[in-house]
Amino acid sequence: KPTRLEDYTPFNFDLSESRFDFRLDPRQTTVRSLLSLTRTAPGPLVLDGENIDLVSVEIDGRLLKRTAYRVTQTQLILDDVPDQFALNITTRCDPSANTTLMGLYVSGGRFCTQCEAEGFRRITYYPDRPDVMSEFTVLIDADKAAYPTLLANGNMIEAGDIDGGRHYAIWHDPFPKPCYLFALVAGEFDRLDDSFITMNGRTIPLEIYVDPGDAPKAAYAMDSLKRSMAWDERAFGREYDLDRFMIVAVRDFNFGAMENKGLNIFNSSLLLADAQTATDLNFERIESVVAHEYFHNWTGNRITCRDWFQLCLKEGFTVFRDQEFSADQRGAAVQRIKDVRALRARQFAEDNGPLAHPVRPTEYLKIDNFYTATIYEKGAELIRMLKTWLGDATFRKGCDIYFDRLDGTAATVEQFIACFEAASGEDMHPFMQWYHQAGTPRLTVERHQTPTSPVISQVVSFSQMTPPTPGQADKAPLMIPIRWQAIGDDGPLMDPQLTVMTTDTQTVSYPRFDVPHSLSIMQGFSAPAILRSDATTEDLIRLMGQDPDAFNRWEAGQTLARRLLVDCARALESGTMPEPDPALGAFFGALGKTLRDDSFDDAFKALVLTQPTGMEVLMAAAPIDPIAVSEAGDWLARAVADGLRNDLLQTYAAMKDSGPFSPDAASAGRRALKGRCLSLLAARFDPLAASLAAQQLDDATNMTDEIGALITLSRLGGQRVESSMESFFEKWKDQPLVLDKYYSVQAMRHHADGIHAIIRLAETPTYERSNPNRVRALVGGFAMGNVRLFHRLDGSGYRFFADQVLDMDGRNPSVAARLLGAFEIWRKLDAKRQQLIRDQLDRIIATRPSKNVLEIAQRMRGA
Ligand code: ARG
Ligand code: ZN
Repeated sequence: KPTRLEDYTPFNFDLSESRFDFRLDPRQTTVRSLLSLTRTAPGPLVLDGENIDLVSVEIDGRLLKRTAYRVTQTQLILDDVPDQFALNITTRCDPSANTTLMGLYVSGGRFCTQCEAEGFRRITYYPDRPDVMSEFTVLIDADKAAYPTLLANGNMIEAGDIDGGRHYAIWHDPFPKPCYLFALVAGEFDRLDDSFITMNGRTIPLEIYVDPGDAPKAAYAMDSLKRSMAWDERAFGREYDLDRFMIVAVRDFNFGAMENKGLNIFNSSLLLADAQTATDLNFERIESVVAHEYFHNWTGNRITCRDWFQLCLKEGFTVFRDQEFSADQRGAAVQRIKDVRALRARQFAEDNGPLAHPVRPTEYLKIDNFYTATIYEKGAELIRMLKTWLGDATFRKGCDIYFDRLDGTAATVEQFIACFEAASGEDMHPFMQWYHQAGTPRLTVERHQTPTSPVISQVVSFSQMTPPTPGQADKAPLMIPIRWQAIGDDGPLMDPQLTVMTTDTQTVSYPRFDVPHSLSIMQGFSAPAILRSDATTEDLIRLMGQDPDAFNRWEAGQTLARRLLVDCARALESGTMPEPDPALGAFFGALGKTLRDDSFDDAFKALVLTQPTGMEVLMAAAPIDPIAVSEAGDWLARAVADGLRNDLLQTYAAMKDSGPFSPDAASAGRRALKGRCLSLLAARFDPLAASLAAQQLDDATNMTDEIGALITLSRLGGQRVESSMESFFEKWKDQPLVLDKYYSVQAMRHHADGIHAIIRLAETPTYERSNPNRVRALVGGFAMGNVRLFHRLDGSGYRFFADQVLDMDGRNPSVAARLLGAFEIWRKLDAKRQQLIRDQLDRIIATRPSKNVLEIAQRMRGA
């Protein structure tokens, strides 16, 4: 039943041109396709198709009898066809009834499509696979009053009116593409216009289509787009190719956004922003996703994937590119820290749980289930390691070879790596293991104290070990680039070194110093590994103050905090109060010093004041009671706030903004630091924190400050919370994106009546159970952000969550399967909770859910 990498065979026909005529109607849309096919290998013609009605099939203009073809649930099979012919297929579908949001559907009265990975087969019968590339011409015919704007990929070549109040447009895309990059949009939109002049002097009109009234909220996305276009020319030599570039925002969307050729479609939550309704994090994500989708034009569209096993070829590389863009726009150190924090919270959790899979998997049931942190974020880390290993110039040369050699093709990871082999002359074979092997390597570092004279050098040894993952018991050593440096009390004692490990253990010597020093290992997080270092508290404090590598300076504080949190969580679980830790004083001292040092960005300081995620602590302390982990977090926050109260109050006051809102990185950094200070003060239930938060809520002129204050108040509890939540709701109930925020803040509160409050929220009239954003806000927010209620020992949290997943599964399997991922941590929990989640997984499996949910539930269950 599963699809396997080893079974790959090319399609047996060449499909040079595809023409589609859409007659749009929300209830019954007719699609006529005209395909020019030339045989390249023997065998029947097999086309994919799902949930569509077949009306007729013609070959070279002759209508086929019903006996000349076979139709199954998923295919149209023509056993006997000529070697070269024109195939004409007519089908019908019902976009208004399409709740899966894959294929052609209606959102807010507008038609739109989502075809990646396998949605095109819900539109018409077609070879729905990425290696079949064709030149598309698309005619759209629709009611003119209801759907004044008609869009598809490429350039518009003709448009006009037709009888019966209808009109049409014909679009042509000169670049051959696989059907997953097809898009069609029809409806009433407002448009934001701008243009970009490319490096060769071509003027490209840029158009962003949004719901009527929303155009001003697309300004930041437009600005991000222009910066992305300029950056891709500068950093990778990539110029835009079509005559126009369009982006459309839709409210009902299964994930973030989609890189359809020349016509990107975005979840409106990743496109629309202004000071009043969007947080700094929203602005930051809009900038990076706009860039990501734009960068796909080369890494994904011009060069696409041979099959879906190669997904990381476009996604890992494109994430790497968007991370580099964000680093350039907002500061490299801060960006790297944020990326690694997310990697550890999401990808490490995946790689060390039941859903672990290689960056290039070898089999799947539903490819939708593989749009994962491993393929995206770990995939990006592999590209980063290539760059670290080969150096900037050789890396860029390899990219140039790739763009040149593989343009217009559907490629594999091997072909990609071969370009870097050509650029560097290195044997890249050992590096491929990263693509084949799941799991996070553990890297152990030991300094060996060497006896005194006459020794002139000392030794550090590295050893690696990757624990087994499902289906992969034995692991081979990986090629691990380790950037490291010895640091003394006055700064570095040597230049940074790059040790590229290729075996299980490796020993390196370095000069002997006569002063105390510490080793800064894995600077810049040079590999996606878990470091087990023998660094002492003294080492970590030294690195917090002296490491020239900003990432490791931050990481030293995180390592210390992680140790404190793990010890505290274990103590709490066993019912003892944590002993006052002697490391705390030095830790506060180092934090305070950073906070008072003007040479650091405010955004960096905010990150230094941010604790490791609960997920990191859970994984380090597993198996453990998750509530103990959460309480340990509260304990450390309180301790830090006690130790640094005056610094926090002063910094909070100093970070107050005056003047108009600006979303730039420096201003966002000030707000982030202010927010961290407030939330730490709230952790010690400082009476001042409540009044600061209340004041901030009243004074807020932007959503970052407003929602930050609301969350702080909701943590502090008390009189003001209910009324503040209610006024927030009243103020924003007509703004869907802000209402999503309301639901997620509610989902994460410690409601007095527990799960009942969450159940009631799911029954409120403004809760839209068919909108993925709303469901992710409430159900996802609850499962990922409400430790106390989700993990209740009576099992009510898990049961509610499973009910919601099943409810969603009836409508939208891919969103349901993704939600279910929240259970992936189950084996890290205490025995009682493991049993409770196992029961829910078994219950889900017993209901015969969709293939998507079944695959996730079974893999999680380990069946
Ligand atoms: N290619 C899109 C992006 O990374 C995401 C498509 C997700 N598709 C899916 N079936 N989950 O920008
Ligand atoms: Zn992508």
